[in-house]
Amino acid sequence: MSVSAITGELSKLGLTQPEAVKQSLPDYNIVDVFKNFIADEFSRITKVDKSVVFDALDTPKVLDQGDLIVALPRLRLKGINPNDKAKEWSEQFQKGKFVSEVKPQGVFIQFFFNKSVLFDLVVNDVLKRKTEYGYLPLGVGKKVIVEFSSPNIAKPFHAGHLRSTIIGGFISNLYEKLGWDVIRINYLGDWGKQFGLLAVGFEKYGSEEKLAQDPINHLFEVYVKVNNDVRNETNEATGESQEGVDASEQDEKKIQSSTNEQAKQFFRRMEDGDEAALKIWSRFRDLSIEKYIDTYARLNIRYDNYSGESQVPQELMKNATKQFEEKGLVHIDRGAKLIDLTKFNKKLGKTLVEKSDGTSLYLTRDVGEAVRRYETYKFDKMIYVVASQQDLHCAQFFEILKQMGFDWAKNLEHVNFGMVQGMSTRKGNVVFLDNILQETKEKMHEVMKKNSEKYAQIEDPDKIADLVGISAVMIQDFQSKRILNYEFKWDRMTSFEGDTGPYLQYAHSRLCSVQRKSDISDEEMENANFDLLTEPCAASLVRTLVQYPDVIKRASNNNEPSTVVTYLFSLCHIVSQCYDILWVAGQERDVAAARLALYRATRQVIYNGMTLLNLTPVERM
Ligand code: ARG
Repeated sequence: MSVSAITGELSKLGLTQPEAVKQSLPDYNIVDVFKNFIADEFSRITKVDKSVVFDALDTPKVLDQGDLIVALPRLRLKGINPNDKAKEWSEQFQKGKFVSEVKPQGVFIQFFFNKSVLFDLVVNDVLKRKTEYGYLPLGVGKKVIVEFSSPNIAKPFHAGHLRSTIIGGFISNLYEKLGWDVIRINYLGDWGKQFGLLAVGFEKYGSEEKLAQDPINHLFEVYVKVNNDVRNETNEATGESQEGVDASEQDEKKIQSSTNEQAKQFFRRMEDGDEAALKIWSRFRDLSIEKYIDTYARLNIRYDNYSGESQVPQELMKNATKQFEEKGLVHIDRGAKLIDLTKFNKKLGKTLVEKSDGTSLYLTRDVGEAVRRYETYKFDKMIYVVASQQDLHCAQFFEILKQMGFDWAKNLEHVNFGMVQGMSTRKGNVVFLDNILQETKEKMHEVMKKNSEKYAQIEDPDKIADLVGISAVMIQDFQSKRILNYEFKWDRMTSFEGDTGPYLQYAHSRLCSVQRKSDISDEEMENANFDLLTEPCAASLVRTLVQYPDVIKRASNNNEPSTVVTYLFSLCHIVSQCYDILWVAGQERDVAAARLALYRATRQVIYNGMTLLNLTPVERM
């Protein structure tokens, strides 16, 4: 669509674009049209720079406080009494066509938009732009890498990976909506001695048939069995029990097992590039990826690149160690190499960069991988969506890269998150993404069946149960600030009441049904007379719809999905209050057209928000 659509709408109303402050986007964001107008007029009165006023204009927490609000202390004016000035300036403000009311409130001034201008601009803009409503070209020409999910092959896909997947999927979409070129990378845990162990285990316990059918679960099964062997052999030798400890993570010196020796040898061969060994390993990797691709697709996620710890070139890691050696920062401790990062930041401590047998580590692989990615993509920003348990790990390798003199290291960002408590399925504590999705779907199906009348009308209940179930899991995850821990609650998240995924789906499908039941055409909606929308709830709705582009912008400032979710719920609450008042059925045609256009626009914004979160909005449920 042409960039001047909003300008075109304004001219139909006999208005022109107010002069634009440089950081404004009045061709995309209607709030910026109003902000420009207010900044201009307010700066005339106060002599404060327009751009400063523009930045000081905020969206209030509740609609009662206006559409925009300015806290006078934010203008940094010396020697004024903000309470007095708020009154004085409110009176002097020339409202013109854009503003209907200016109210002083303590040190604040509240601005209310002229509703008739607002209705015309917003409803038309949403109906025209459709899925593009909310797009802001802030990142055009810039590239961001988002690394997320990053599970470990042959190990459970735990709650941390689930959160990384969900949050990372959202962040990638968010940057796309802001015009960035987004590269989605999955960095698999696909290297290390555990693959030697897996290969040895597969000889003993593997089944080609099961591998083809369900590689992820089968490899895990094999992995558990072979780990047990190592444990038992070790116990026989030492008499010690190490219940529940992963053999690959045990202290090497304590493991006295022939299986473990074989695994080590196998991994050694892999590191040396032995083709036969790598062939076995790459088959495990490829089959797992194939399966993952399907599972991610259920969550509307696809990757540009399946990278992994195995993909990091040796010499990039060796380089890092060498540079630190040259700077005299490396200590040797019992044959292993350590670097001391406390010189740069006390909290970062000392860290191992090379094992005594010369093999690489998780940390050095991250260093090498970041270099490789920069060489490949020349990114402007790279985001790692990784649990907060790895805060130190990320801070360490970011610092290492910085000390290696890479200027781009300042553009690395760790988006962290808290833990999920109590996530388990009927099958037990070990959770794979697929099983979680399967179980939520079954649970959702049970809830849906309780309303047998509605259930009978749904064409493909299985599909709907799946989509609504996925929203239940995702919304539960997105709801609070990402850094907080939360408890995984089956009943709570699958409920249709309260702020849940199913409730959001319900709100969307209800709006679809309002539209289905009416015979008003798109053209009638586009030419509707919005002056007929006089009810306060209609105004609340449109005043909330106009905020959407800024909500996206705000969410990107702190990479916070909860910002979008909170907004969507408040929008759903307002529209649910409208149903009792703003009827469409049985109304005069022009009234019905105006109301339906408003509902249509609301549905679109809910749809846009849901797809931004990677949910699939359903039309019936
Ligand atoms: N595979 C790792 C794990 O499961 C997560 C990887 C996070 N990303 C990274 N670049 N280190 O703990």
